[in-house]
Amino acid sequence: MNSPSVRILNHASEAVPLLLAEVRTLAARPGRPLLGFATGGTFTAFFRALADELAHGRIDAGRLCATHLDEYLGFGPERFGGMVHELCEGCPPLRDWLLRGAFVPLPHDGAPASIAAHAARLRELGGVQLQFLGIGRNGHLAFNEPGTPFGSGFHVTDLAETTRNDARARFSPQEPPTRAVTSGLATIVAAKRLVLCAFGGKKATAVRAMLRGPIDPACPASLLRQHPDAHVLLDRAAAADLASA
Ligand code: GLP
Repeated sequence: MNSPSVRILNHASEAVPLLLAEVRTLAARPGRPLLGFATGGTFTAFFRALADELAHGRIDAGRLCATHLDEYLGFGPERFGGMVHELCEGCPPLRDWLLRGAFVPLPHDGAPASIAAHAARLRELGGVQLQFLGIGRNGHLAFNEPGTPFGSGFHVTDLAETTRNDARARFSPQEPPTRAVTSGLATIVAAKRLVLCAFGGKKATAVRAMLRGPIDPACPASLLRQHPDAHVLLDRAAAADLASA
């Protein structure tokens, strides 16, 4: 099968049952496989649905552990605007995962020792088996902005202006942060399976660059094309530029 597989949905909401099915398949595997969450509006509906599945025991929380892609520098789990805060607001059962150590957050201090300890913890947990991904308008994955080397591991990074502008409403009236700690591109593609979602016309250019442009750090998401088990879910608007030459 070609990787990435690309599936075009009539509506973004059709991704929710597909993503839940991914989680169920993972939860059925032996051990407590590690699931990597992505944040962002792309996944809001999924997290609402996941909260419902967990609350009703239709997905057994005890069968999984979790981590996530990226965090604004200095944003602890309780701080509004942060990624862990967003995840726990969007999917309240994750608060309990966090308390019992089943949800391993990125170290928001970005210190080299904390980053090394985080990477070691993920290795102990067997590495990420399933990684959900969004994509930035500029083709970024997590906070790996264009130009980030494909070989990068966890690191602290400056945010691109487009990324800060996209985050502006979230932080208003404050200014959006300028720095973040992020999984690197090598970290991301080390996951066994990748599922990237992109919805809406604002993502069409990045989606085209990811799937049709050169495999090059100028479009970090183009690295997906070198992964053996990558899957892309698009709505029609995000896929709009794929057909053109
Ligand atoms: C942020 C995150 C990314 C995410 C992207 C898209 O920049 N760091 O991991 O993929 O936003 O967000 P949205 O889903 O809101 O478009």
